[in-house]
Amino acid sequence: MEDRIKALAIEVESYTASDMQGVENYRLKYISKKGVISELFETLKTLSPDEKKKSGKILNELKQAAEQKLKALTEMLENNSSATVDIDLTLPPIPNKIGNQHPLTLTRNRIIEIFERLGFNVADGPEIEDDWHNFSALNFPENHPAREMQDTFFVEKNPDMLLRTHTSNVQIRLMTKQKPPLRAIMPGRVYRNEAISARAHCFFHQVEGLYVDRNVGFADLKQTLYHFAKEMYGKDIKIRFRPSFFPFTEPSAEIDISCLICKGDGCNICKQTGWVEIAGSGMVHPNVLKNCGIDPEEFTGFAFGMGIERVTMLRYQVNDLRLYSENDIRFLKQFHSVI
Ligand code: DAH
Repeated sequence: MEDRIKALAIEVESYTASDMQGVENYRLKYISKKGVISELFETLKTLSPDEKKKSGKILNELKQAAEQKLKALTEMLENNSSATVDIDLTLPPIPNKIGNQHPLTLTRNRIIEIFERLGFNVADGPEIEDDWHNFSALNFPENHPAREMQDTFFVEKNPDMLLRTHTSNVQIRLMTKQKPPLRAIMPGRVYRNEAISARAHCFFHQVEGLYVDRNVGFADLKQTLYHFAKEMYGKDIKIRFRPSFFPFTEPSAEIDISCLICKGDGCNICKQTGWVEIAGSGMVHPNVLKNCGIDPEEFTGFAFGMGIERVTMLRYQVNDLRLYSENDIRFLKQFHSVI
C-alpha cells in the first residue's frame, strides 16, 4: 500500500497538461470519486489499525498534493489562454512605429515632385566649394561683402575653399558640363557665418532652379514659379515679384507669397506685411553664361534659389528655424506629407 501511494505521489508531481482536456483527464484519474485516490481510501478501510494509521497519513498527504496540483494546472492554463486564445483576429493590427520623414525632407521631396513634372532634372553639387564656382563665375565682384569672413565659412588651410553659401554653385557646375537646353533643380545644404536665432541659422537648405535654352524669357520664370506656388500651397495663394539685385541675374526679382499664417492680416512671420519672401530669381546674367562657355547671344535662361526652411515654415506653420535641427522627437513626429 505504502509503495503504491509513493509511486502515485511521483506521478502526480510530474503530471503535465497542455490544455483543459489534459487537466480534466488528471482530475478524473486522481481526484474524482472514481479516481485512484478514492479507491485507495476504500482499500484503507480493509487494513489493520496499525497499517491504517501509517498509510492513512501519507494517503492524506497525497490527496492534498493532488488537489493543489489540480489548482496549479488550472491556473497555469487560464493565464496562458488569456494571452493566446482570447485574441480577436478580426481587429486591425497595432501599427509599428517606423518613424517619419523630417519636415524639410518632406518639403524638398514635394518641391522636386512639382518641378519634375515640368521636365526639370535633379542635379547635385559639392558643399565644400572653391571660390570660382561659389562666387567668381557667378559674377560676384572681387570686393563683394559675401566674400568676407564674417559672412562665409572659409577652409582655414586653403582660403580658396569655402562652405558654399548658396546652391547657385551647382548652376555653374551644370553649365560647364552640359550644353543647353538645360532644365534642372538642385536641392542642398548651404552655410553662412550667422548667429543662430529663430530667423537665422549657420546652415540651411535651398533649392536652386535653372532653365537655359533659346528664347527663355522672364514670362517663363513668372509662369513657372506661379505654377509652383499653386501646386505647393493651393490655388488661392497669391504671389508677387519684387525688383531686386543679385550679381548673377539681370533683371532680378525676389518672390513673395501671401502669408499663410495670418492670411494677410499681418503677423510677426511676415513682419506685418502680409507677404513672405520665399526665393530670389532672375534672368541668368550674360557674364555667367559666358563664364560657363555658353553664348549669351544664342541662349538665355532664368534661375531661382528657394529657401526650403521658408517654404516649410509656411507649409506647416513653424516659426522657429532652430526646431529643424534640435532633433526633438515631439517636434519631428508631427509631420506627414500633405499633398
Ligand atoms: N543665391 C541666392 C541666395 O542665396 C538666391 C538666388 C537668387 C538664386 C537669384 C538664384 C537667383 O538662382 O537667380 O540668396
